[in-house]
Amino acid sequence: MTTDRTTHRSADPAPGAEPDELRRRALDALVRARSRTALLTDAVDDDDLVAQHSPLMSPLVWDLAHIGNQEEQWLLRTVGKREALRPDIDSVYDAFEHPRAARPSLPLLPPAEARGYAADVRDRVLDVLAATPLEGAGRLAEASFAFGMIAQHEQQHDETMLITHQLRTGPAALTAPAPPARDADALPSQVLVPGGPFTMGTSTEPWALDNERPAHQRVVAPFHLDVTPVTCGAYLAFVEDGGYRSPRWWAPEGYEQIQRHHIAAPLFWRREGGQWLRRRFGVLEPVPLDEPVLHVSWYEADAYARWAGRRLPTEAEWEKAARHDPATGRSRRFPWGDADPTPDRANLGQRHLRPAPAGAYPAGASPLGVRQLVGDVWEWTASDFLPHPGFAAFPYREYSEVFFGPAHKVLRGGSFAVDAVACRGTFRNWDLPVRRQIFAGFRTARDA
Ligand code: AVJ
Ligand code: FE
Repeated sequence: MTTDRTTHRSADPAPGAEPDELRRRALDALVRARSRTALLTDAVDDDDLVAQHSPLMSPLVWDLAHIGNQEEQWLLRTVGKREALRPDIDSVYDAFEHPRAARPSLPLLPPAEARGYAADVRDRVLDVLAATPLEGAGRLAEASFAFGMIAQHEQQHDETMLITHQLRTGPAALTAPAPPARDADALPSQVLVPGGPFTMGTSTEPWALDNERPAHQRVVAPFHLDVTPVTCGAYLAFVEDGGYRSPRWWAPEGYEQIQRHHIAAPLFWRREGGQWLRRRFGVLEPVPLDEPVLHVSWYEADAYARWAGRRLPTEAEWEKAARHDPATGRSRRFPWGDADPTPDRANLGQRHLRPAPAGAYPAGASPLGVRQLVGDVWEWTASDFLPHPGFAAFPYREYSEVFFGPAHKVLRGGSFAVDAVACRGTFRNWDLPVRRQIFAGFRTARDA
């Protein structure tokens, strides 16, 4: 653990970290988030920054100033009790006041001003970080939580901006090296996860968000779980078997969606001259058969699972497979243990612009041998987004609480576009079941 913490200053502070360590982690997380924001916004010109590439997304320049505005509200005004810098723009960057499709017509800060604003906020926030006691000064600053929360917020918008990059047309603006190859070992296709109680959620992880809390007992029945996410090759068999034309595999609302929008394959796939191709960050390439499938809705994942004689895992099943250590009975921070993510354990942080082939990252395997639970692709689960028993909204209802209910499905594990600061064995993401532009795939399960 010590080695990881000194050589990879990339994730959350461990439970019980000292104030100096907390301050260093917070600074490191904020700096890393900003360099990624700069990479994503410097990769295109100003016209591109203000353009709306899809009605599903904001112009990149909105995300940029929204990142600065959230940081101003929480770190400068609330934690630092400093004077407001731009209270006049709060409403323009309020995600609840303006749906994404309406954001291009708002009086947005132009690119140079948006960059300058975010930088001004950051300068002042670094003073606040240096001046704020991280122990005993109230729950928001305790263990540098608010700084971790804002670093996670920026990283989440960086993933959102990467989705916008994927949706924009034209030549590639981003490049990255290829991820590692699959492990040469022959892998079983599934493992048996024993039934019984385990600890879900956390009460000790310093930067865990409200919806991950508190730790509580859950019981799951024994089940079989795929060792890797479902690959493009496996998914292609469903496509070619006429899966999209057989209502029997589909939830009724899912079948209605694919008919209304003429959906017959994952988003960004197309068939040309007898070959399946996909467009990825401006590059057209043959569909990589051994890679986890991406850009499928919850409905597509659910239909594939039914076709395969299987089902999506519940959220509790996913978390048990990812955290429960059968040797000790304890739930751990990550599938591989309590140590922070490293480049050999998980495909995180936009180091690569795609998932690694199914069966990569042997060092990231769970005790039962399940691969790629963290990183590569977000994994749809069968579950609605609901509060853990004992949930309390903190610090604001609009982060999680207003989204609880049957409208949103839970995704777990994190994609290649997730930074380690916004990724834990307890981390929860959610979205509408029709969503396809997010970096989501899935794995399947079966009752034992
Ligand atoms: C948790 C990814 C669903 O992007 O809508 C960003 C994160 N919340 N700003 C989103 C979030 C406020 C949220 N997700
Ligand atoms: Fe936001």
